[in-house]
Amino acid sequence: MKSLGLYIHIPFCLKKCNYCDFLSLGGMSEEDHAAYTEALLVELEHYADRNISLDSVYIGGGTPSLLDPGLISRVVQRVQSCFTISEEAEITIEANPGLLDKNKLTTYRGAGINRLSIGAQSLNNEILKLLGRVHDREEFVRNFHLARECGFENISVDLIFAIPGQTHDIWMDSLEKTIDLGPEHISFYSLQIEEETPFYDLWKKGELKPVDDQGDRAMYHSAIDRLQSSGYRHYEISNAAKPGYESRHNLKYWSMDEYLGVGLGAHSYIDGRRFSNETDLSRYIRIAKEKNCAGRRQGASPWTIWFHENTVEGEMSEFMFTGLRKVEGIRLSDYEKRFALPVTAVYGDPINKHIETGLLEIDEKADRLRLTAKGIDLFNRVLVDFV
Ligand SMILES: C[S@@+](CC[C@H](N)C(=O)[O-])C[C@H]1O[C@@H](n2cnc3c(N)ncnc32)[C@H](O)[C@@H]1O
Ligand code: SF4
Repeated sequence: MKSLGLYIHIPFCLKKCNYCDFLSLGGMSEEDHAAYTEALLVELEHYADRNISLDSVYIGGGTPSLLDPGLISRVVQRVQSCFTISEEAEITIEANPGLLDKNKLTTYRGAGINRLSIGAQSLNNEILKLLGRVHDREEFVRNFHLARECGFENISVDLIFAIPGQTHDIWMDSLEKTIDLGPEHISFYSLQIEEETPFYDLWKKGELKPVDDQGDRAMYHSAIDRLQSSGYRHYEISNAAKPGYESRHNLKYWSMDEYLGVGLGAHSYIDGRRFSNETDLSRYIRIAKEKNCAGRRQGASPWTIWFHENTVEGEMSEFMFTGLRKVEGIRLSDYEKRFALPVTAVYGDPINKHIETGLLEIDEKADRLRLTAKGIDLFNRVLVDFV
């Protein structure tokens, strides 16, 4: 039996945030949500009877908590009927403050969802307005407590820093207030100004001044210090968790473990192959109705529009640049087991170069190659030499 992680994409948001380029659509109707969910159920069914066991399920978006909770229940039930779910499986749903209530939360728990990832982004109402979020700080705090009351014992909170107009103090205040709530996991992302977003247009016009590198790094370092002194373990560039609460699903991406992605635009990595799904909503739904495989790559699903068989070199490179995102780095023996070569035989030059620049270190005793604290800051400089 194959053991995988499963990602399920819900591509709807109440409205698009000003900074976001994720595949999600604002302003769609409940009928659209229902039609999409029906198609999703068909796609899940496509993978039934393949002897697949799941140890993590991640319902992400978009905004899964926008959907009627009955639809989410049906999705989880379909997952349960099409796959074997391990007893200890981590089952996460992403939720947006302002789009959560008691009925939704109890339905999620009843369906077996045991982890909630809440996108707070900031706990400053001015900043939330600038980001174009639909919630305010008070709603987030209320929703967080409600989630605890409804039985969620594993909650992650997403925050963004280096937002134009966000001073170091405003950032640390948001982080502090989040830590006070005691979530098991905190993600902290430096704001990226992405093309085709309102933030990008404002930046192009000179009306949005990004936080400079120095300010960005200062916010990052202060966050890590504060998180560590509050009992969180910094385990990936942008993630910290109380011991034992590291995101099992996301660790799969950083360890190059296999996962299946279903839903609009979802990506998969199985048997050394990467493939991704249709990104047009009407076509995605139509394929489910027709199950029309004509013209699509053999071996992938009717929804696949992109397919790539990794070369050994490609696999090695991905193993390096995903694995080095983890603060503990890659295990030297894992590399050797996977590729039948010591990592230094393949990447001796870049490894030596970055040991000299002080960005990488080898710890033979711990069986690890990892970024130094300076390397975590300058990860992109290391990355280019492994791609
Ligand atoms: C896939 S999004 C969906 C989460 C959820 N819809 C929400 O917004 O709360 C996951 C996370 O990515 C982060 N994110 C999205 N766009 C970003 C950007 N341009 N820069 C930095 N972080 C971003 C946010 O923290 C967000 O919570
Ligand atoms: S940040 Fe989240 S809520 Fe905002 S548009 Fe992106 S996916 Fe939707």
